[in-house]
Amino acid sequence: MKYGCIGERLSHSFSREIHSLLADYPYELREVARDELDSFMKEVNFCALNVTIPYKEAVIPYLDEIDEHASLIGAVNTVVNRNGKLYGFNTDFYGMVSLFEHAGIDASGKKALVLGSGGTSKTARAVLCHLGAGEIVTVGRVARGGIIDYGTAEKEHTDAEIIVNTTPLGMYPNVDACPIDLSRFASLEGVIDAIYNPLRTRLILEAKKRGIKTEGGLYMLVAQAVRASEIFLDKTYPRGTVERIYKKILLQKENIVLIGMPASGKSTVGRILGERLDREALDTDELIISEEGCDIPTIFRELGEGGFRNIECRIVNNCSLLSGKILATGGGVVLNPTNIEHLKQNGKIYFIDRPLHLLVPTEDRPLASDKAAIEKRFMERYDIYLSSSDKRIIADKDAPLVAEEIIKDFYTL
Ligand code: S3P
Repeated sequence: MKYGCIGERLSHSFSREIHSLLADYPYELREVARDELDSFMKEVNFCALNVTIPYKEAVIPYLDEIDEHASLIGAVNTVVNRNGKLYGFNTDFYGMVSLFEHAGIDASGKKALVLGSGGTSKTARAVLCHLGAGEIVTVGRVARGGIIDYGTAEKEHTDAEIIVNTTPLGMYPNVDACPIDLSRFASLEGVIDAIYNPLRTRLILEAKKRGIKTEGGLYMLVAQAVRASEIFLDKTYPRGTVERIYKKILLQKENIVLIGMPASGKSTVGRILGERLDREALDTDELIISEEGCDIPTIFRELGEGGFRNIECRIVNNCSLLSGKILATGGGVVLNPTNIEHLKQNGKIYFIDRPLHLLVPTEDRPLASDKAAIEKRFMERYDIYLSSSDKRIIADKDAPLVAEEIIKDFYTL
């Protein structure tokens, strides 16, 4: 391997995609077991490396020199082989500084809580210090030397202005986890989560709901990779490179989610979007039908609406974990707020707003099988569709034109 990333588990890494947008060196993801690290580092069969969990500290003894940030933090994420000598750097530091900047969060003079006490926590503390934070408190599962526990944080540090999550709580696939209850912190101004999968953790969505400036870890991931690539090649990328690659990766990963009334054209628009954008288009109703082996009226007859909603919730959760998909949902998906929270984690939600007079009832829709039923659903749900969506598309036109409008909006960041 000439260029690449080593770590214990790398299946969910985005690094290869990011580096392939930057340069044309071959970039490999190499999972190295703990007992293989020694021989890997001693063989020095590489030009340049990124290093991730759990080896950011373990590689240090193999290096000839490390830079200021790496030595301050005690962790290295970039190693370069220059004529047989190994140099270590910490570009996570630069990544997190860039993340604060991108999120528009000013840490100077502020009281910050850093959740977690591992390697990323050390980076967060160094960055907060560099940005001039007034007080930095580290929160861990168990209180020990300089680290307080969550109970104490939620009782005695409710005046915190910034929270940085460096724990894996909320990370794929355990996306329902949230490290801390934000309602306790009335002075909060900024919430940073180092997690990038999902794009928006529960913590981030909670912060958004409260109108607090917040940002997930994707920008940091891209910024550290851009800086690492500069070190690999001993060159400087033009200004705006991090922003450009970040937008590209974000769009690649973001799902396009369609919600709206029964018969509003979600499935048709979804299929068109799938073809136009060369993305897999999934339809939650179709997934339910194929999983249950019978049609929707039969599920309603046998299990009732409640039974149907439980299956729908499970299917929606599974779909929400995916990325880069088109997801057409059933008209009643918005009735359960958990569905929307899950869909938001990795997706932009479009409300296909087809005027009532254009919604045609059909017999295979138990809750929309005649005009009166459709009208009732429309009145009950219209506001929920609106408040659940990121963008409303007026669908008084043919499906290809609706799809066109979504594409235009989606790619305008
Ligand atoms: C429903 C809508 C249907 C389907 C089920 C329940 C609803 O999907 O999920 O019949 O409650 O509105 P469509 O929106 O595709 O009709």
